[in-house]
Amino acid sequence: MSSYRIALYPGDGIGPEVIDQAVCILQHVQCGQSEYQLRFTHFPWGIDYHARKGVAAPADYLDILKPFDAILLGALGDPRRVPDHVTLEPLVRLRQRFDQYACVRPAKLFANVKSPLANPGAIDMIVVRENSEGEYFSCGGRFKSGEANEIAIQTAVHTRCGIERILRFGFELAMQRRRRLTMVTKSNALKFSMVLWDEVLEQVRPEFAEVECDRLHIDAAAMDFVRRPDRFDVVVASNLFGDILTDLSAALVGGLGLAPSANINPQRTFPSMFEPVHGSAPDIIGKGIANPAAAILSAAMMLDWLKLPEAATIIRNAVEKALQRGETTPDLGGGLTTAQMTNRITQYIAEVPS
Ligand code: NAI
Ligand code: MG
Repeated sequence: MSSYRIALYPGDGIGPEVIDQAVCILQHVQCGQSEYQLRFTHFPWGIDYHARKGVAAPADYLDILKPFDAILLGALGDPRRVPDHVTLEPLVRLRQRFDQYACVRPAKLFANVKSPLANPGAIDMIVVRENSEGEYFSCGGRFKSGEANEIAIQTAVHTRCGIERILRFGFELAMQRRRRLTMVTKSNALKFSMVLWDEVLEQVRPEFAEVECDRLHIDAAAMDFVRRPDRFDVVVASNLFGDILTDLSAALVGGLGLAPSANINPQRTFPSMFEPVHGSAPDIIGKGIANPAAAILSAAMMLDWLKLPEAATIIRNAVEKALQRGETTPDLGGGLTTAQMTNRITQYIAEVPS
């Protein structure tokens, strides 16, 4: 039997609420089979840890996490207590230091889930967000702090090899899907960084001649996500563009409560990290109504990454069935609590013939 070490980093707000549900589902699926075993270790880092220790995570948290096979993260942050850039700093650093350069965010419109669009069509896309550099590279400074003529400089860093590897990742993903790739750019205005992205696309695309490929400026891409989202299969975007577009893609298919994500280190030299796209949702904390699906679907992505695709499919099918029957939390118009929705999903897992 293969054994995998999973680090649980539930974080703040609804993070622990939804990670509890994801773990419950993972335990349920592994129960009674003999192919694999997940061993969980819990890390209580985030706002409460900060209140006790003055830091959001211990100084050696990366050394602690490195031996794990995967990390399952909830969400970090509560701006009422600690500024976000302090609480979320360990998360941003983790993605960069573990070279989780591919942030994979699927957006699929499931049957019986209402899109805010009048005619959404069959939305089934994956946005691949460059996760290690670009606009979120921590480089800059502030001058004349607090004065009327204060200056802030935030420099983006885009490297040829960083762009090349994320495009290859996107093309390889497109090869397993509908063989369509759209690269998001803004080379009409950002004449250094995004022109480099355009050039690297032209360099890489001949290696993937079977993939139909185009590029869209970020503003046009945002418009087309709304106007004709069914045209997209794999979308590759820089860190900032991908971050923004994936809140939009999530909204198109039912909202953040359903949006999973994976921060992948494709070389497997470091653990990859799986987390719902949503944040800690301070407005609904403790009410028991957080939608657990995004965390549960993120856990399914983790199983895929651990090369346990059957278990991942069982979970996805069970979530889909609950959605089809309208058995959801209030964000999707249902009347269930977080735990009740998980129970329904558990029930559908039990119905899958083994
Ligand atoms: P948010 O994603 O926490 O919430 C946005 C809206 O979506 C809220 O109305 C919330 O109630 C709703 N929502 C989110 N997840 C839901 C779920 N599972 N079920 C039902 N409704 C859900 O984003 P917001 O409010 O901008 O940020 C809150 C905090 O989370 C901030 O501190 C922010 O920095 C942090 N954050 C952390 C992230 C992470 O840890 N990866 C990602 C995004 C935000
Ligand atoms: Mg975001």
